[in-house]
Amino acid sequence: MTPTNDSTAATTREPTTPPIELRHAAVQLGGRTLWSGLDLDVGPGEFLAVLGPNGTGKTTLLKVLLGLVPLSEGTVRVHGRPPRRGDPELGYVPQQRAFDPGLPIRGRDLVRFGADGGRWGVPLRSNRATRARVDELIEAVGASAYAQAPVGTLSGGEQQRLRIAQALLGDPTVLLCDEPLLALDLASQRTVTRLIDEQRQRAATPVVFVTHEVNPVLPYVDRILYLVNGRWAAGTPSEILTSERLTDLYGIEVDVVKVRDRYLVVSAEDTLATEPHGHAHHHHHHHHHPHHEDRGGH
Ligand SMILES: Nc1ncnc2c1ncn2[C@@H]1O[C@H](COP(=O)(O)OP(=O)(O)OP(=O)(O)O)[C@@H](O)[C@H]1O
Ligand SMILES: [Mg+2]
Repeated sequence: MTPTNDSTAATTREPTTPPIELRHAAVQLGGRTLWSGLDLDVGPGEFLAVLGPNGTGKTTLLKVLLGLVPLSEGTVRVHGRPPRRGDPELGYVPQQRAFDPGLPIRGRDLVRFGADGGRWGVPLRSNRATRARVDELIEAVGASAYAQAPVGTLSGGEQQRLRIAQALLGDPTVLLCDEPLLALDLASQRTVTRLIDEQRQRAATPVVFVTHEVNPVLPYVDRILYLVNGRWAAGTPSEILTSERLTDLYGIEVDVVKVRDRYLVVSAEDTLATEPHGHAHHHHHHHHHPHHEDRGGH
């Protein structure tokens, strides 16, 4: 790792450029700064878990990397360039939404859309190699039995497995996964996590993995980005998942206990919207931190 770049010809893409770079990055949505001052690199083959309560901007971070949401401050680079919408090099597992039962799209169609960067309505390239890879991934996620059925009739977990196959189809150079294990049973969670890790190891694809449950992926996690109410912390699991760091981040007393190989995050106040069973909580109010001037940077 080279911490500094002495080259004067910094315009070309260098082999040392991290796949993902965020510098002093901030996002505003609906007049509110979600997070700010974010400095983060994700290196080749690195697995970054993104944790934090509902509404803190985890999905928004992925959308920034996808070029769908602009920064209000700072810079973002993916493979050394500003993100472009519809970049076929990016694999994306969106946060789960239900498909309309009437949607005339079969499971395998959904997977095949991955070959076109996930854009709907674009004519599908369908050569033999793509078809073979679609079949291979459908098999790998255990979806062979229902890949011909209309996706709207499939269960949540069945739909989710197809989404993961779709994201992996294009041999992505960056993989962005938004709560990909949600709705999956334990066996499927393991299958999917292994598939994602296989891509990471084979192609050095960095993985940004948003989750409310770090324990199932802990063996794979290199670093954690923890977002809470506009503040953030990044580091290895053992650096971030401590009572001191999380108490500081949440601004309330939080205890982290390690039981065998699992981290449990507990608080006397029942306000932790993440870890270990916090999915249902929503923040109805947000603390405003006046530590940044609002500069509508466009
Ligand atoms: N287009 C938009 N306009 C205004 N506000 C938005 C927009 N998109 C998202 N938000 C708000 O930004 C905040 C962060 O949303 P985001 O989806 O990134 O949260 P999250 O951390 O992924 O939460 P969750 O854990 O519930 O998925 C939310 O309060 C959301 O309502
Ligand atoms: Mg989200």
